[in-house]
Amino acid sequence: MPLRTYYTCVHSSAQRAAQEWPHTRRAEKEELVNGTTRASAHSINHFALNVRDLAEALRFVTAFGLVGRQMTGEIALTTAHDDHLWARLIGASATSLGYMSFGCAAGDLDALRRQALAAGAPMASPAPGAGTGGFWIADPDGNLLQVKPAVSTQPTSKTALPDGSVPAGVAGVGGRSGAKRVTPQRLSHVLLFTPDVERMICFYQRALGLNLSDRSADIIAFMHAPHGCDHHLIAFAKSSAKGWHHSSWDVPRVEDVGLGAMQMRKAGYGEQWGVGRHVLGSNYFDYVRDNGGAWWEYSCHIDYVPAGMQWVAGDHPPEDSFYLWGPDVPPTFIENTEAVASNQTSPMDAS
Ligand SMILES: [Fe+2]
Repeated sequence: MPLRTYYTCVHSSAQRAAQEWPHTRRAEKEELVNGTTRASAHSINHFALNVRDLAEALRFVTAFGLVGRQMTGEIALTTAHDDHLWARLIGASATSLGYMSFGCAAGDLDALRRQALAAGAPMASPAPGAGTGGFWIADPDGNLLQVKPAVSTQPTSKTALPDGSVPAGVAGVGGRSGAKRVTPQRLSHVLLFTPDVERMICFYQRALGLNLSDRSADIIAFMHAPHGCDHHLIAFAKSSAKGWHHSSWDVPRVEDVGLGAMQMRKAGYGEQWGVGRHVLGSNYFDYVRDNGGAWWEYSCHIDYVPAGMQWVAGDHPPEDSFYLWGPDVPPTFIENTEAVASNQTSPMDAS
């Protein structure tokens, strides 16, 4: 499928109006123009992903270079570099988002709760096993969100790419057998399918105080926290239904992206897209698909928005939004398995 079809789906104004939730966009724009200062979540603390086969999920994440710890009915996911719980993989009938847990400063919690209520978010019960810290809400797509005081998981500055150059007279590469196993350092971001990208932008601005980084029409949008953050910690892509697309994991070198791709092919996970370089976010990438249909991204050197900086959000033409270079996009990369499962046809799939 040509890339262009990914971006040519459009949302009718009638459909959009029917899904207006819960405030008018005019009110949203007025508030933004007036420069209302909002409290903001600063990072994704962790996420819960429902998976069909826990044993297979453990095999996948281990091959990917993460650390999975088998618990009763779930896998606790950390990196090889620290003990932070980045994800819970929970046994279920199919892949879907369980919940997203956002971290905030303790002093911002009450303001965030007020913002969420003002944005019309219904309060929700905590997910089983997730604890009771902070508060729980649902976003316009019905995704379950937790907001809780936590230490930020975002870096405080952009890490420079290591200088891989070597002087004349020195071999730049040792033996292939000596290549180190790739072990991602941290979660960078997640991407969700949504039936209404605009509605999600409005909600995450109003309720969680996130800022728009860049977008391409109503097809895809990227959002960051204003406290110092990767170009995006959450992104939304247009589909006919909500759904989980990918989680992205930071590695320090471009070479780690390539080595990770090889590491996964060697482990039997050959359904990939990459190696390449994105335009919006600028990161080098390789995506690997697990057996449940979810994508996992090795990401390197993503753009960074320093604390307090006003990143100028662009609305980019589709042909200049996706990737600078890389292999052709495999058709399955834009497949929303949750839409397929519910017998709904994605506009992206149908176009
Ligand atoms: Fe990504």
